[in-house]
Amino acid sequence: MSGKYFLATFGCQMNVYDSNLLGGMLEKRGMQNTSDPESADVLIVNTCSIRGGAEDRAYARIAAMKYYKRRNPDVRIAVIGCMAQNHGEKIPVELDHVDYVVGPDNYRGLENLLFEKKPKVTRVLTEQNAFENYPGVMARLDSAVSCHITIMRGCNKRCTYCIVPTVRGVERSREADDIVAEVERAVSEGVREVSLLGQTVNSYRTEKDSFASLLRRLDTVSGLQRIRFMSPHPRHFDMETIRAMAESEKVCNHVHMPVQSGSDAMLKKMRRQYTRARFLEIIRELRAVMPNVGLSTDIIAGFVGETESDFGETLSLVEEVGFDSAYLFAYSPREGTPAFAEPETLTAQEKQERLERLIALQMGITEKKLDAMVGRTEEILIEDKSSRDATEWMGKTDCFKKVILPDAPGMAKGALVRAEIIARSGITLRGRVTST
Ligand code: 5AD
Ligand code: SF4
Repeated sequence: MSGKYFLATFGCQMNVYDSNLLGGMLEKRGMQNTSDPESADVLIVNTCSIRGGAEDRAYARIAAMKYYKRRNPDVRIAVIGCMAQNHGEKIPVELDHVDYVVGPDNYRGLENLLFEKKPKVTRVLTEQNAFENYPGVMARLDSAVSCHITIMRGCNKRCTYCIVPTVRGVERSREADDIVAEVERAVSEGVREVSLLGQTVNSYRTEKDSFASLLRRLDTVSGLQRIRFMSPHPRHFDMETIRAMAESEKVCNHVHMPVQSGSDAMLKKMRRQYTRARFLEIIRELRAVMPNVGLSTDIIAGFVGETESDFGETLSLVEEVGFDSAYLFAYSPREGTPAFAEPETLTAQEKQERLERLIALQMGITEKKLDAMVGRTEEILIEDKSSRDATEWMGKTDCFKKVILPDAPGMAKGALVRAEIIARSGITLRGRVTST
């Protein structure tokens, strides 16, 4: 197999990183990436299973790829990622133009299949491998300024609503030396900010390193300006991590920590391993050492058994914490999870109605938090030209807020500038550069 590959990615940043891993493998074999599916020899769809909607979107995309196979029967189509793992054999039955179905532990196997001389029709590779960390594979870089690097794969939690442990398997951490080397390589190619990824990123642990010690090691990488990570699990958010964050120069002033619910009854039912009080305590500990820490979270509305009073606890937690932003979801039952066996207690409409109340509440808080930034001077890492207006630049503050800045001498991708925040428009801030 030579020529070009096209890769469409659904789902979270870990999938984006996996697409870059596979891209790295294929490019090492001489293939080239293309954004034009018409000209590709291999079409790959990296899929997500987290909610029903994510699977529907992936299926629609896979179905649409039949067109390319009809035009060119030699084109190979691979479905990879979490939904490939989740549905395995079922995918090719429904979509017979798919050649390969490959789960997250089998990208080396896909590489082998693609470079075999005589491919058979459909191959399903979904055997899980608790040790597969892809050592030695060079992931492609996804951006010149900011890149995501997976530091641990899989998840050892068993949150009762979640399909991730089933499809991504058990937790395994990469060697810190490999991570540091990957970050150094990225920096040498122009990257200034790295986001460390893992399902429960702060449970990262190897024989020699903890999450906190990894942060401290990465803090010494010269040329790197910012370190972010997601998503930490409250169960593992200890003082050692908070101290490492506060004491390191590069770790950003932002924590995205999923809370899922404000009700102890729901947290227990979700098997989250912390209480509302403990979550709030972590927030207090964080704010005690980082007073302006940006906070964001994930919340599920309408889980099985959630009463109006449980939901009220979520609303009150959202108000009490004052998150800068939040990803908010209606509960989506996933076959294969412990909660799937339990009949839902709310209709789709009721879940949607709760979700909308939550969104409205959070939107008001988000706007208030952004308004409070007006007048402040912030350090902003310029990521790119603004997507709306090419005469302007887009960058982010340390606390993860998007800021639009007019062009000025010294402005460029990767520049770290100081700017005064002058206004909010929607959920974006506008600024005035004070020094470059
Ligand atoms: N339904 C709705 N949201 C879910 N999430 C995970 N599983 C489900 C589900 N079954 C959300 C959680 C998680 C985020 C990535 O997706 O909030 O933190
Ligand atoms: Fe899913 Fe819970 Fe693991 Fe997150 S911690 S991936 S929500 S099981």
